[in-house]
Amino acid sequence: MIPVIAIDGPTASGKGTVASLVAGRLGFHYLDSGAIYRVLAVAAARAGITPSCAADLPSLIQMSWSLPVAFQGERVLLSGVDVSSEIRTEQAGLMASQLAVVPEIRAGLLQRQRDFRQAPGLVADGRDMGSVVFADAKLKIFLTASAKVRAERRVKQIEGRGQQASFQAIYDDLVARDERDMQRAVAPLKPYPDSRVLDCSDIGVEQVVNTIIDWYLNA
Ligand code: DC
Repeated sequence: MIPVIAIDGPTASGKGTVASLVAGRLGFHYLDSGAIYRVLAVAAARAGITPSCAADLPSLIQMSWSLPVAFQGERVLLSGVDVSSEIRTEQAGLMASQLAVVPEIRAGLLQRQRDFRQAPGLVADGRDMGSVVFADAKLKIFLTASAKVRAERRVKQIEGRGQQASFQAIYDDLVARDERDMQRAVAPLKPYPDSRVLDCSDIGVEQVVNTIIDWYLNA
């Protein structure tokens, strides 16, 4: 069986950075499952579809089964067009979180995520990697950090791109998104019984990566 390391956790917990570094160190493939939800959000917005409109639900579900998404290194493509920056906006994240509450949409995206499981191994990050998508993962991590630390990191990230960011707006959005991800009926965001919780509020990326690799090699 091809090994999987599942890294789940709230938004801006650093799981993307950590997961891709762990994958690089082990020579494994990397899946950013949130990017798939975000691409669906961008595709829906382009089609003028809003997640809050019930009449649009069948089209959204159909879209989730046939989403023309592709990964090319760091680049994320929708129908062959680079949407790497567009999917990172706060708006795309918020809409992705709204789409993610719909069980039929989650089902539509399931196989696409499982297809990433290829030799020699996979590091996958998201919300339900260890609980649903790769329930047989060799190592399951719940990576978290306080909302304040996560909001500060997000502000730095946005400012690093030369854009302006309001701490309070980012913090409020992050808390609202956590709430929705945690409260949804299907695959809610929470540590599951066989996951190891890693709080990275006060430790650096390198130490987090080393800890995960250490746990994996001794799992
Ligand atoms: O990790 P992220 O912020 O890029 O994810 C965007 C949204 O997608 C997040 O608010 C919830 C949803 N998501 C999910 O429900 N399940 C996943 N495995 C990944 C993301």
